[in-house]
Amino acid sequence: MRKSFLVLFFAFFALALTVGSANAVTGQCSGCHTMHDSQGGAGVGAAGAQGQLLNSGCAGCHTGTHDGDGKNSFGAPVVLDGADPTGQGNGLTNAGGDFWWVTQGSGDAKGHNVADITGLGVDGTIGTTPPGWDPDATSGHAFSQVATGAASWGANQLTCAGTYGCHGDRGQANSLLAISTSHHNNADTGGGVSATSASTSDTIANSYRFLGGIMGLENVGWNWSETTSSHNEYYGQANTDAERDDDTTDTYEDTDTMSYFCGQCHGFFHSRIVASGAGITSPWVRHPTDIVLPNSGGYANYNNDGGPIGSYSLSVPIARGAVATNAQGSRSTVIANDSSTVDGAIVMCLSCHRAHGSPEDDLLRFTYSNMVVGNSNTTGCFVCHTDKN
Ligand code: HEC
Ligand code: HEC
Ligand code: HEC
Ligand code: HEC
Ligand code: HEC
Repeated sequence: MRKSFLVLFFAFFALALTVGSANAVTGQCSGCHTMHDSQGGAGVGAAGAQGQLLNSGCAGCHTGTHDGDGKNSFGAPVVLDGADPTGQGNGLTNAGGDFWWVTQGSGDAKGHNVADITGLGVDGTIGTTPPGWDPDATSGHAFSQVATGAASWGANQLTCAGTYGCHGDRGQANSLLAISTSHHNNADTGGGVSATSASTSDTIANSYRFLGGIMGLENVGWNWSETTSSHNEYYGQANTDAERDDDTTDTYEDTDTMSYFCGQCHGFFHSRIVASGAGITSPWVRHPTDIVLPNSGGYANYNNDGGPIGSYSLSVPIARGAVATNAQGSRSTVIANDSSTVDGAIVMCLSCHRAHGSPEDDLLRFTYSNMVVGNSNTTGCFVCHTDKN
C-alpha cells in the first residue's frame, strides 16, 4: 500500500517536472499578464489594454536592452533594441538581426517594415506587396494562406503574426490568436539543453520559432553568444523539382525549409531560378537557394579560401538537409555535396540575409559594395565563391 503510494507519488512528481520544463515562459503570471489593465488606479500597459490580458503587445514585449543573453526583462528575445546595436551578429543582435535600423530615418531598406512597431509605416519604395510575391506559394498550407492568396496586399502592411505576418497561423487575423498557446507550450529552451530540435512542426508551438510548419534547431540564446559549434541550425533541401523554372507553373515542395519560409512571401525568388524548361543547374536566372553546395571549384573551399573546406561560418551560414536532435546539437563541421545529413551544406536565403533587419540595405549580412573582384576579401559572397576574390 505504502509502496504503491510512493510509486504513484514519484510518477506524479516526474510528470509535473516534465510538464513544467516544457513551458518556456517562466515566472509569475503578473510578469506578463494584467487582469484589468489597472494597478493602483493607473493603466499598466503603455499601449492600453491588450488581448489575452497581456501587459504589452508583440513588439513591446520583444523590445529593450539585452541582458547579456539575448533576452530583456520579460525574458523575451529582443528583436528591437532600445539603442543602436552598432553591428550585427554575435553579442550585438540575436539571429534575426534587429529592427532598430529600419526604425531610423530612411531605414526602409534595412529591414522588414512591420506594422506592430510603433511609428513604422509602409516601405516607401516597395509598398505593401513583397517583391517576388506569388499568391499561390502557400496555397493549401496547413497554417493557411498568406494574405488569403490575394493578387496584391492592398493597404495591408506586414505584421509580426497572422494573415499578413511571418509567425503563427495565417488563418487568424489577430496576431495573438495566430500564435495562441505557443508561448506556454514552446519546446524547452532551458534546463541545460543548448538547443531544441523543432523537427515535427505540426503545431505553431513546435515549429521553428513559431514559424508554422518550418523545421530547425533552436539555439537556447537565439544566437546571442553564438560560436562555430553553438548556433541555430536551419533546415534546407536540395530541391531538384524540374518545375523550379521561370514559367507560369510554380510548384512548392519541401515546404518545411527556411528558404521556403521566405518563399511564402517572396515565392518567385525560390520557385523560378532557372530558365523555362532548363534543368535545376547553371545557368541560374535568380541566385539559387535550396540547392546543395557543390564539392568542386571554389565551393569546395567554403570558409577557408584556398584550403580544405572550412567550418560553419557565423556570418554566412548554410542550411542542413536533416534537423539535428537535441543530443546531436549544432555543428561546426560542413561537408560539401551533402544534402541529407546534419553536417551537410545547402544554400539558403539566410546565407545572405537577416530575417528582421541589419545595418545593410536589403537586410544583408555583409556590405555588398565591399564585394569586389580580386580584392582578396574572404567575407560575404567570397565565403562560398572563394575563387572570385
Ligand atoms: C508578455 C510578453 C510577450 C508578448 C506579448 C509576446 N511575447 Fe513572444 N516571447 C516572450 C517570452 C518571455 C519569450 C521567451 C520564452 C520562449 O522562448 O518561449 C518569447 C518568445 C518568442 C519567440 C521565440 C520562440 C522560440 O522558439 O524561441 C517568438 C518567435 C515570439 N516570442 C513571437 C511573438 C509574437 C509574434 C508575439 C505577438 C503575437 C509575441 N511573441 C508576444 C514574451 C512575449
Ligand atoms: C513571461 C511571460 C508570461 C508569463 C509569466 C505568463 N504568461 Fe500567459 N501568456 C504569455 C503570452 C505572450 C501569451 C500570448 C501568446 C501565446 O499564447 O502564445 C500568453 C497567453 C496565455 C493564455 C492564453 C493562451 C494559452 O496558452 O492558453 C493563458 C490562459 C495564460 N497565458 C495564462 C497564464 C497564467 C495563468 C500565468 C501564470 C501561471 C501566465 N499565463 C504566465 C506570456 C506569459
Ligand atoms: C509574411 C510575408 C513575408 C515573409 C515570410 C518574408 N518577407 Fe521579406 N518582405 C515582405 C514584405 C511585405 C516586404 C516589402 C516591405 C518591407 O520591406 O517590409 C519584404 C521585403 C523584403 C526585402 C527587401 C527589404 C527592403 O525594404 O528593401 C528583403 C531582402 C526580404 N524581404 C527578405 C526576406 C527574407 C530573407 C525572408 C525569410 C527569412 C523574408 N523576407 C520573409 C514580406 C515577407
Ligand atoms: C547569394 C546571396 C543571396 C541569397 C542566397 C538570397 N539573396 Fe536576396 N538579395 C541578395 C542581394 C545581394 C540583394 C540586393 C542586391 C541585388 O538584388 O542584387 C538581394 C535582394 C533581395 C530582395 C529585395 C528585392 C527588391 O526588389 O528590392 C528580396 C525581397 C530578397 N533578396 C529576398 C530573398 C529571398 C526570399 C531569398 C531566398 C529565396 C534570397 N533573397 C536569397 C542576396 C541574396
Ligand atoms: C552560401 C554560399 C553562397 C554564397 C554566400 C553566395 N553564393 Fe553565389 N552561388 C552559390 C552556389 C552553390 C551557386 C551555384 C553553383 C552551381 O551552379 O552549382 C551560386 C551561383 C551564383 C551565380 C550564378 C552562377 C551560374 O552558374 O549561373 C552567381 C553570379 C553568384 N552565385 C553570385 C553570388 C554573389 C554576387 C554573392 C554575394 C552577394 C553570392 N553569389 C553568394 C553559393 C553561394
